[in-house]
Amino acid sequence: MCGIVGYVGKEQAAPILLDGLSKLEYRGYDSAGMAVYDGEKIVINKSTGRLKVLSELTHDGENMPGHIGIGHTRWATHGEPTETNAHPHFNESKTIAVVHNGIIENYLKLKNLLIERGYQFVSDTDTEVVAHLLDYYYKKYDKDPLTAVVKVIHRVEGSYALGIIFADYPDVVYSVRKDSPLIVGKAKEGNLIASDVPAVLKYTRDVYFIENEEIARLTEDTIEFFNVDGEPIQKQSKHIDWDINAAEKNGYEHFMLKEIYEQPKAVRDTISPRIKDGKIIIEELGMTDEEIRSIKKIHIVACGSAYHTGVTNKYIFEGLARIPVEVDLASEFRYRNPIFEEGALVIIISQSGETADSLAALRLAKEKGVKTLGIVNVVGSSIAREADKVMYTWAGPEIAVATTKAYSCQLVAQYLLALKFAQVRGQITDEQLKEYLHEIEMLPNQIEILLGNKERIQKFANRYVAAKDVFFIGRGIDYAISLEGSLKLKEISYIHSEAYAAGELKHGTISLIEDGTLVTAVVTQEELYKKTISNIVEVKTRGAYVLAVTNDDNLDIEKTADSVIYIPKTNAYFTNSLAIIPLQLFAYYVSVGKGLDVDKPRNLAKSVTVE
Ligand code: F6R
Repeated sequence: MCGIVGYVGKEQAAPILLDGLSKLEYRGYDSAGMAVYDGEKIVINKSTGRLKVLSELTHDGENMPGHIGIGHTRWATHGEPTETNAHPHFNESKTIAVVHNGIIENYLKLKNLLIERGYQFVSDTDTEVVAHLLDYYYKKYDKDPLTAVVKVIHRVEGSYALGIIFADYPDVVYSVRKDSPLIVGKAKEGNLIASDVPAVLKYTRDVYFIENEEIARLTEDTIEFFNVDGEPIQKQSKHIDWDINAAEKNGYEHFMLKEIYEQPKAVRDTISPRIKDGKIIIEELGMTDEEIRSIKKIHIVACGSAYHTGVTNKYIFEGLARIPVEVDLASEFRYRNPIFEEGALVIIISQSGETADSLAALRLAKEKGVKTLGIVNVVGSSIAREADKVMYTWAGPEIAVATTKAYSCQLVAQYLLALKFAQVRGQITDEQLKEYLHEIEMLPNQIEILLGNKERIQKFANRYVAAKDVFFIGRGIDYAISLEGSLKLKEISYIHSEAYAAGELKHGTISLIEDGTLVTAVVTQEELYKKTISNIVEVKTRGAYVLAVTNDDNLDIEKTADSVIYIPKTNAYFTNSLAIIPLQLFAYYVSVGKGLDVDKPRNLAKSVTVE
């Protein structure tokens, strides 16, 4: 994970680096640092804790003069989050500074070789190896920085996006990537590198997406690219037309709350361009009807919340399109030697498009010659670029670490896909399709209605800030909703929480229920209503306090549950889009009630670019 930035130009570098890092803090926030060439030497400032500590230390960058520099915000992998381990890292003579996002897998071997050659290490990081290795090759190859970078990337294994400055070349930033994201921004007053587009949007909308093992060399007014052997290559820039305000809080206390409230728009933006005159048009799918009919199996592969959307949509692809679906966690899928049959389609779901395991799963499927489709939010991200086809979710930038609006968009994108497949394969009539689409088009307004009920959920959440354990139960799609409700709560409130298939409770977990334990029962699937009610009775008999989330016509649930949250009626396949809203709000208000950092929960980062 981690975020890197770099700048060379007419302006003072440090404030620009800090500003860029503030847009990348979602990638890691346990320490931060900057290296700036001050006219005579490279100066490094770094600190543990949030970026604001570094801002204070450097007076918002003002006390670091110089027009060229690199910066880093860290999510520790190798070495604890201490000041010494924070980036940038120097070579011994402090003439080369490096920032790094990724993991150098063979760092121990390289470290030992360098120690044998007399290099001394000060940190526990894998990155310091890069600084010393650069030093080694720089000296060996006539102080030529490009050759040194080329030699280093031939030696290191793993993932990296690197920003590098050399004191001998005080007007050049070098950068290179493999399996960690990197973009170059071309601005009027100078040029920039960054891990992600929002970090440069204030200065430019013209960016280059750097591919694996491509090297960028930036000066104030030139940008050159080289391949892995140091030969010049040409690249085209892309114009980014995102709304810059989308990455600001706009008066909300937290990004998470803002993003929860953006869900009606995000869902609408994801579905409306794809529904025309009662038909589903997914042009980017690039599949003929014949190809859709020939799909024999779908593998949905993702991590975390994105995986949960796959668990839900398995029911929909199987129920409506009658295509068998396997849903896998990407970190398991890539190592389980999956069997791909003729006619398989692999769907990779990812907000960031950079999740290391999901990307590896995609590459595995491609290697085996299987068709791949990415459902991705970040335009131009690695998964979006590498998948055979990409269907974007139009959630806009999602900043809070806990996903909400991207999750909701991933759900509806898959609903449309499942319905498209169902219709082409003759499993539903045009009339049925119209009805399903009508229900889907109502979802944004129904989400709005649910968002209007936040005070009641806030009050309820305040009662549970001291909870020790919370359980979420449900059957079928309600179980999938429970998985996400539970993850939301635990990741931002640090309350232990588990989601259980309601029928599975009595096979062990029910022994954890004590007097007053909160059990949230999701009961939106009418066919399973009575079964889940029995499970509610089981936990209540053991002392649980039950909060039910159910459809607004299930009034008699009040006889069994202690509290009830009603959701507007929709088709059973689409209830996840509504039932998740109160659960997101519940998690949010518990976290706020506990005074926690909602947007940046401990130990997490938004984009998991390490395995
Ligand atoms: C939880 C959350 C994570 C992500 C997961 C996958 O709130 O956000 O579980 O869903 O890390 O990330 P992406 O979708 O970027 O691949």
